[in-house]
Order: sequence, then structure tokens, then C-alpha cells
Amino acid sequence: MADRLDRPLRDLRISVTDRCNFRCVYCMPKTVFGRDHAFLEHDELLSFEEITRLARAAAANGVEKLRLTGGEPLLRRGIEDLVAALAELRTPDGRPLEIALTTNGAALAVKAAALREAGLTRVTVSVDSLDDAVFQAMNDVRFPVARVLAGLHAAHDAGLGPIKVNMVVKRGVNDREVLPMARHFHGTPFSLRFIEYMDVGNSNGWSLDEVVPSAEIVETIDRELPLERIGAQVPGETAARWRYVDGGGEIGVISSVTNAFCGTCNRARISTEGKLFTCLFATEGHDLRALLRGGVDDDGLARAMASIWGARDDRYSEERASLTPELRTARRKPEMSYLGG
Ligand code: GTP
Ligand code: 5AD
Ligand code: SF4
Ligand code: SF4
Repeated sequence: MADRLDRPLRDLRISVTDRCNFRCVYCMPKTVFGRDHAFLEHDELLSFEEITRLARAAAANGVEKLRLTGGEPLLRRGIEDLVAALAELRTPDGRPLEIALTTNGAALAVKAAALREAGLTRVTVSVDSLDDAVFQAMNDVRFPVARVLAGLHAAHDAGLGPIKVNMVVKRGVNDREVLPMARHFHGTPFSLRFIEYMDVGNSNGWSLDEVVPSAEIVETIDRELPLERIGAQVPGETAARWRYVDGGGEIGVISSVTNAFCGTCNRARISTEGKLFTCLFATEGHDLRALLRGGVDDDGLARAMASIWGARDDRYSEERASLTPELRTARRKPEMSYLGG
């Protein structure tokens, strides 16, 4: 099954909650996500049964990897029960799906072992700085970086690897942390990935000057810790991978702004309230919750998903450069916390 640009469907990213205990400035700024912000009500969210049915339909259509996101997925009560249900699913040729989870790490020290037990394959943890002042300024809720690092190690001890660490780099905010982060994770089993700050949603006030191009990051690190480029592990990867020449592991750079990777994009997203989005920047989703709650059977659900994917021609990150700032802001893009990273 391929879309109109001949891309298969392989990766389904599911946002399980639009809430988060952090207020990262690039994702959920307090000015927009303040005390009186209206999050979704519980019955608006997909239930675990509904999520599992959607994941089963996706597996029937070729999906091999599920990623639970949010918001902060560990805030969804009983998340390990969802993981356990998803771990039962199989590809058409009988293989289990890979189940990954993207988290801010705050609750990992408490939850890692139970998640592993339930069948989670691996986690990716966001760490934007090792300097506590910078880290707290970025999460904007005074959460100390030491607790995230403790969560990271708990996940490693629980066997939730290989673990990736995501750092969103924002010019003038944490770009001086690039080298300290690289040094810290060099020689560890954690693979650090630098993410170009993106214009997701309409809240973060994105501007191109705040993006630190991946090429600059690779150059900065390479000067001190020489790097060599390595190929993709799986087709359609977001990160370009680089290896330390001295054997100290690898890093990745995710260049959604300076070197878009839409050409091989095999990712679909399910929003917190059950809309299928065929791009992180799609202005509209397809309401699968309405189908689920209207009594569709599994075949009907899989067929609906296939037909949505077949019509897909999104490639926003490749088109971004040709949009004026006015056109970019006029576009009503969904927020990352609702749609899922
Ligand atoms: P792996 O399976 O571990 O490679 O994970 P991943 O890179 O697919 O997922 P992760 O959630 O770690 O994504 C890292 C970052 O890449 C996200 O936070 C986004 O910033 C960016 N990203 C992921 N998918 C897309 C995408 O489809 N389009 C764009 N433009 N950016 C994406
Ligand atoms: N640009 C790039 N990455 C972002 N993330 C959240 N908002 C943005 C943005 N505007 C990242 C988080 C996390 C992942 C889920 O998405 O840092 O690693
Ligand atoms: Fe929460 Fe992750 Fe968004 Fe930060 S980036 S506000 S941790 S969902
Ligand atoms: Fe895929 Fe859209 Fe991201 Fe391009 S911008 S990689 S099409 S999700």
C-alpha cells in the first residue's frame, strides 16, 4: 500500500493525552497553555480499546512500529495496560510490532520497569540541556534535569533500549549546550539526536533565525570529537546518523527545516481525539473516532485507513521554504501536544 508519492505506511504515532507536566517554550508555552487552558475531557479521548483497534487496522495496512506520544504519554493513567494490549498485535506475517514511547522522562524512574514488563520495546527521552538553569528555563516548570537523567538510567536498567535522547536546539536558548551534551553522551549507550526547532502548531512564535542548522551542529561536534556519516538503519528514518570515529557511539541530526525528509516519510499520526493526520503539518485530520463510535467493523476500519493513506500527498517540510511568513502563520497547524511528536 502506497500513497500518491509512492510512500508506504510503516509508522503510527499515537497521542494518548494532550496534557503535559512541562511547559517547554517551543511546544506548550505558558502564554497559550496557561492555567485556564481547556484540555480535552476524558470521554473525548480515545479509550485504550479504541486505540488498540486503530493500531490493529494499521498493522493490517503495513504498520510495523507504534509510537506512543502526547503531550506526556506517562500522564495517561494505566498506560501500561495499553502497552500490554498493543504488545498482543501482530503484522500480517505474524511478527509483533515494535512499541516505542517518547517521554520527557519525569515519571520514568517510577514507571520504567512496569512498562518493560507490559511489553514496551524502547523509549526516547527529551533532554534539552544538562545545565539545570537552562533546562528549567526551557521546561518552564522548574523541573530539575537530574530527575530526568535518573529516569533515563532507570529505563536503561529496565532494558528499554536502545534509548535515544532528543534535544531540540533553539538559537540563543540552548545552542551553547550542544557540545556539553555531546561530551556527556559520548561513550554511553544513549544515542543523542539534535532536532531543528520547527514551526509546528501556531503557539510557539517560530522564526527561522531561531533554528540552528544541523550542518552547524555536526561541524561543532566534529571539531572536538571527529564524526563520520553512516547510513540509515531503517527506511524513512527522521535522523541522519553520524558515528564517532573513536568508537564512542553515534549521534543523529533531525533536519526537518534545512534538509526535509518528506520523500521517504512513512508516518501517520492519530490525535488525542482519534483523528488520523497524514502529516505533522496537515491542517485537517480524518475522524476515525466517529467511525469507531458509529460501529464500524475491523475490515471497514482498515479499509478507511487504506483509502486515506492512498490519497496522501503531504510534504510540508519540503514546501516550507517556498511559503512566505504570512502564508505560514495563516495556516492553522495542529499543536504537537495534541497531534503527537
Ligand atoms: P525513532 O524510531 O527512534 O527513529 O524515532 P523517531 O525519530 O521517529 O521519533 P521521535 O519521536 O524521537 O522524533 C524525533 C523528532 O523528529 C520529533 O520530535 C519531531 O521533532 C521530528 N519528527 C518526527 N517525525 C517527523 C515527521 O514526520 N516530520 C517532521 N517534519 N518531523 C518529524
Ligand atoms: N520543534 C522540534 N521538535 C519539537 N518537539 C516538540 N516541539 C517541537 C518543535 N517545535 C519535540 C520534543 C520531543 C518530541 C516529542 O518533539 O522535544 O523530543
Ligand atoms: Fe511536554 Fe514534550 Fe511538549 Fe515539552 S516537548 S511540553 S515535555 S509534550
Ligand atoms: Fe512527513 Fe509531513 Fe513531516 Fe514531511 S512534514 S516528513 S510529510 S510528517
